[in-house]
Amino acid sequence: MVGAVSRFQTRRCTDPPCSLRFPVAADSSLGDRCPHCGGPTERLGDTYDTDDARDPSDAPPGPALEVLLDNIRSLRNVGAILRSADGVGVRHVHVAGFTPTPAHPKMAKTSLGAEASLAWTHHSDSLACAQALRDRGVELWALEGGPRSTPLFSAPRPAPGATICLVLGHEVSGVDPRLLDLCSGIVRIPMLGIKGSLNVAVAFGIAAYALRFDLRSG
Ligand SMILES: C[S@@+](CC[C@H](N)C(=O)[O-])C[C@H]1O[C@@H](n2cnc3c(N)ncnc32)[C@H](O)[C@@H]1O
Repeated sequence: MVGAVSRFQTRRCTDPPCSLRFPVAADSSLGDRCPHCGGPTERLGDTYDTDDARDPSDAPPGPALEVLLDNIRSLRNVGAILRSADGVGVRHVHVAGFTPTPAHPKMAKTSLGAEASLAWTHHSDSLACAQALRDRGVELWALEGGPRSTPLFSAPRPAPGATICLVLGHEVSGVDPRLLDLCSGIVRIPMLGIKGSLNVAVAFGIAAYALRFDLRSG
């Protein structure tokens, strides 16, 4: 791991029916009162550092990744996607339609600075963007369910040196069907519960890491 980022302390509410145990920055007075009941608190143990998860030995064996965000409405979802994109080493973010761009004044609230590290372009028409990517040899893989999809974890391994662009769709209507037609693969993350889909940012995080780190079931 590289770089400790902050110091923290653990505190506990001294009001017995509450007894909430919680972390707070070591130099903050916010922990003097319990955030749950407002009662007095005490410090437990020594202050401690938190580490971040960067390690230069974590080289990804999988393909280079780009991502196409096709009309994703929520600033929070896009911010979360950008943070994961930075983490997994995405090479380019194609922002299409009404998707808020990394330059949106409120983006940093969710992406926490990751927005500044990423190469990106905006395209008013996601289809034109997808066609241009295909023309330069990028493989488009839509992240979507449906009868044409195959499970992500048993999808064919990309050819060595391939660049995959993951295509993500709108929170309600999903990936535009005409955009799906331009994709060479449609991959789904299996859903085992009562819901038919995941939050788009969560789906992106799972798929991007699975592809970059070649996580597969067989
Ligand atoms: C909430 S989903 C859209 C609605 C979805 N098509 C449905 O009918 O439930 C938003 C986007 O997240 C991604 N997504 C969410 N869950 C997924 C899953 N299980 N497999 C693949 N993609 C998923 C897709 O890109 C999808 O277009």
